[in-house]
Amino acid sequence: MIPTLLSQATNDPALGAGLPVTPKTFWLPEGASTIAPEIDWIFNFINYINYFFFVLVIGIMFVFMWKYRQRGREVYARGPNHHTMLELGWTIIPTIIVVFIFFIGFKGFIIAKTVPDNAYQIDVTAAKWYWKFKYPNGAISDDLYVPAGRPVKLVMRSEDVLHSFYIRDFRVKQDVVPGRYTSLWFQADNPTEGEDFHHIFCTEFCGTGHSEMNRKVFVLPETEFDNWVVEQGRWLDKVSDEDLWWKAGPQLYRACASCHTLDGSVGTGPSWGNYDGNGNVWERTKAGSTHKIDGGKNLGDIIGPGKEYETPEGYLRESILNPGKHLVDPYGNVMPTFKGQLSDRGIQALIDMMKNLDKFNKDGTVKPDAIPNAGGAAGAAK
Ligand code: CUA
Repeated sequence: MIPTLLSQATNDPALGAGLPVTPKTFWLPEGASTIAPEIDWIFNFINYINYFFFVLVIGIMFVFMWKYRQRGREVYARGPNHHTMLELGWTIIPTIIVVFIFFIGFKGFIIAKTVPDNAYQIDVTAAKWYWKFKYPNGAISDDLYVPAGRPVKLVMRSEDVLHSFYIRDFRVKQDVVPGRYTSLWFQADNPTEGEDFHHIFCTEFCGTGHSEMNRKVFVLPETEFDNWVVEQGRWLDKVSDEDLWWKAGPQLYRACASCHTLDGSVGTGPSWGNYDGNGNVWERTKAGSTHKIDGGKNLGDIIGPGKEYETPEGYLRESILNPGKHLVDPYGNVMPTFKGQLSDRGIQALIDMMKNLDKFNKDGTVKPDAIPNAGGAAGAAK
C-alpha cells in the first residue's frame, strides 16, 4: 500500500508502529531508530542509579533517625566526626560514576551528530503552525515519509519563531531556529505497517497553535518509498483542472487551516468564512464589499477594472505570495509567504476552493454530495 498525499488525516494514536528496536518501558515508548539502543541504555542507566541512591540515602536517613534519636534532655548524641575511608569513598565513587556517564553520553552525542555520508536529505520548514517536508525531487508533504534502512538527514529552518522538531520513537530532537539551519539524522530500519506511524511533535512553545504541530512519520520499504516520492512530485499535475477545487484545494488548505477557519470563527488570521456580513473569502472580494483592510479601507474599493487589482484572483494570489502587502483589520502581519512553496497551479486550487466554499465542511473536507459524479470520483478522494 502506498499512502499518498490524497489520504485524509486521522488522529488515531498509533503505538508500536513497525517492529520496535528497543522495548516499551514505563518511562519510554518503543524505540524505532538505530540510535534508540544508545539513548535508552544511558537513560536507563542513569535512572537505575537514581533509584539506587534514592533508596540508599533515604534508607540511611531513617536508620540514623532511629539510632540517634534523643531519648531525653540529658542525652547528647555524640557520633564520630571524621572517617577518612568514608569521605574518600563518597567522593571517589560518585566521581567515577559521573565520568563514566559523561563518556557514555559523549559517545551517544557524537553518534547523533555525525551524519553518515550517504544520508538521504529532506528539507524541513517549520512555521506557525505546520511542518513542511521537501524531498530532493521537489515533492512536498505535510507528513514525513522516509525510506527504511537508510540514514535520513533533515535540514531544518523556521519561517518565524523558535520551534523544536521531535520524533519520540526515534529519540531525536532538535531546535528549529529562525535565521539559521539546523539538522538531525536518524535511520529507521523497520517499515511502519499500513496506517501505523511514528509521532512528530513540536516541543518548543511557539504560540497558540503549538499543540497543532503534530505530524506523522511513515517509514516505507526503500522501493516503495522511491515510488512514493516520484508520485508525490507529480500529484498536483495529475489532478485535472475541473477537480482542482475539491481534490487539491483541501490538501493545500491543511497548511492554512491552523490560522484560517472556514466557519467564521476567530483564528490567528481572518476566517475564510463569513464573519463581518460580507460573505466568505471569495464573496467579500466583490464590488462594493465593505470588508475592512489596511486600517479602514474597503476591500471592494481596490478590486475591479482600473483599480489596484483587476480581478479578485489577483488580490487573493498577492495575499498568498505577499501576505504583508494588505492586512485584514485588525490582523497583524504574521502570515509566512508561500512563495516557492505553492505553484501557480496550487494557488489556482486554493482559489477554486474559495469559490466553492459552500461545498466544504467546517473541517475543510469536501461534502460528499458535492463531489462531481460521485461514483468514480469518491474513490480517488479517499
Ligand atoms: Cu512549533 Cu511549538
